[in-house]
Amino acid sequence: MARLFLFLSFVLFSLAHGADKSFNIAARRDYAHSHHLRKRQYAIEATGLDRALYWFGNFSVGDSGPLSLLIDTGSSDILIDPGLYKPSKNELPYVNTKFAIEYEGVNKAGYGFENINGTALLDTVSIGNLSVKHQAIANITSFQFFDLRKPPTVALERNGIIGFGPKDGSQFMPPADPFFFSLCAEKAIDECRFGLAFGTNGTGQIVIGKLDTTLIDGDVVPVSEVDQQYVTVGDVTLDNKIISKNQTIIMDVGTNNIQGPLDLTRSIFESLGWSSKLRVSDQLGGKPDRVLTASFPCGKPPTLGFSFPTESQLKPGQKATIFNISPDVWDSAKHKSGNCTSILGGTNFLSNVTAHTTAWLVGQPFFAGHYIDFDATSHTISYANLKNPATGT
Ligand SMILES: *[C@@H]1O[C@H](CO)[C@@H](O)[C@H](O)[C@H]1NC(C)=O
Ligand SMILES: *[C@@H]1O[C@H](CO)[C@@H](O)[C@H](O)[C@H]1NC(C)=O
Ligand SMILES: *[C@@H]1O[C@H](CO)[C@@H](O)[C@H](O)[C@H]1NC(C)=O
Ligand SMILES: *[C@@H]1O[C@H](CO)[C@@H](O)[C@H](O)[C@H]1NC(C)=O
Ligand SMILES: *[C@@H]1O[C@H](CO)[C@@H](O)[C@H](O)[C@H]1NC(C)=O
Ligand SMILES: *[C@@H]1O[C@H](CO)[C@@H](O)[C@H](O)[C@H]1NC(C)=O
Ligand SMILES: *[C@@H]1O[C@H](CO)[C@@H](O)[C@H](O)[C@H]1NC(C)=O
Ligand SMILES: *[C@@H]1O[C@H](CO)[C@@H](O)[C@H](O)[C@H]1NC(C)=O
Repeated sequence: MARLFLFLSFVLFSLAHGADKSFNIAARRDYAHSHHLRKRQYAIEATGLDRALYWFGNFSVGDSGPLSLLIDTGSSDILIDPGLYKPSKNELPYVNTKFAIEYEGVNKAGYGFENINGTALLDTVSIGNLSVKHQAIANITSFQFFDLRKPPTVALERNGIIGFGPKDGSQFMPPADPFFFSLCAEKAIDECRFGLAFGTNGTGQIVIGKLDTTLIDGDVVPVSEVDQQYVTVGDVTLDNKIISKNQTIIMDVGTNNIQGPLDLTRSIFESLGWSSKLRVSDQLGGKPDRVLTASFPCGKPPTLGFSFPTESQLKPGQKATIFNISPDVWDSAKHKSGNCTSILGGTNFLSNVTAHTTAWLVGQPFFAGHYIDFDATSHTISYANLKNPATGT
């Protein structure tokens, strides 16, 4: 899921600053000297994909015991579903106890939005042997869905959500460090980075505090983030050929599908000979948008991917690497055979016609089978193939 206003601020910001941006690959900073006396600190924990196509992992929050929380890179806060949060002795009220957030892309098809209110407080949050004693969390008190025919009956799938999104994405008042950035600030991990090693078969791992090269097969391709958000630039490929250059790509594992600019997605569907449907949706809560969905013969998933670095960023002698969406994850509805529902959809809600900007919202289907590393020190996202793409091990 993505926090609604994070998106908008990115889109607006990139309009103002996009023209003179250079997208060089950032140098890695060497942290080796700073922790040579300490025990190595990182965590590698199991994750799973649920029926609603969200990835989850086990976290303990206060005295609640292990809670199954959605792992999101489109938002930055921790929210716990009503009735599950049990305070520990470390619990403290947050500065402002009122909490409110809006999420975009909240159903299985990646559409609709939701408002959530809660009580803000501080308590201990842990995964594996990594722990933050006073982490900001929100205990959900009420929620409401918009623009969905059959809204879910719970605020959040599983037991809640943990945002691994950008540092400035917090909705607490004043903004709080997200869990991952608290670990960085407290120097609880060797390196301020995390990796998502999510398999195509519904199991995977989250790696916090290092790049786990043992999970990777082949090259690791680093790409600088735009505006220090989880946004990169790449080329879109069909049958391993570039069909669209210099595309803005928002890396949001909490979105269940992949949403491309409307016209480009329509032309991809047409060239594949797929039937598609256009409908109106008010994803932004007010401004009606057009949304394009498609179905395809289950036995014939396309070869669609993203190529990094984008051609215009290539250094002399450097070659780009194409990362295709796995053929195993193209059906969002999990049909047995016949007519499948495409995980790629079109939308114009990230486009600004006046400014000629468009963006891709790249959700969990692209992550599956790949190792995607978010390095908050160099503001780099690295793309690689998993050694075991089915299981992420
Ligand atoms: C934390 O867990 C990791 C494995 O996930 C292990 O390698 C590391 O040694 C542990 N650190 C401590 C301090 O126990
Ligand atoms: C979370 O913990 C439960 C209970 O200990 C376990 O059954 C489940 O497999 C764990 N989930 C993941 C993704 O590791
Ligand atoms: C959490 O919120 C619920 C309402 O959803 C409330 O009943 C409960 O007392 C709250 N728990 C704490 C510890 O604040
Ligand atoms: C959340 O709180 C705001 C402000 O008090 C209110 O306008 C809104 O209706 C609430 N939303 C929900 C889902 O309870
Ligand atoms: C993927 O999952 C299915 C069903 O759980 C299982 O039968 C199959 O062996 C798995 N494949 C791999 C490569 O792990
Ligand atoms: C791609 O974007 C970069 C950076 O904004 C720009 O320098 C380059 O001219 C663009 N290339 C194409 C082919 O649009
Ligand atoms: C597949 O299903 C969709 C929606 O259920 C429908 O609109 C489309 O016509 C079907 N396509 C084929 C080839 O049966
Ligand atoms: C679209 O771009 C124009 C021109 O840069 C800008 O004035 C406008 O605010 C943008 N609209 C949205 C919804 O971002």
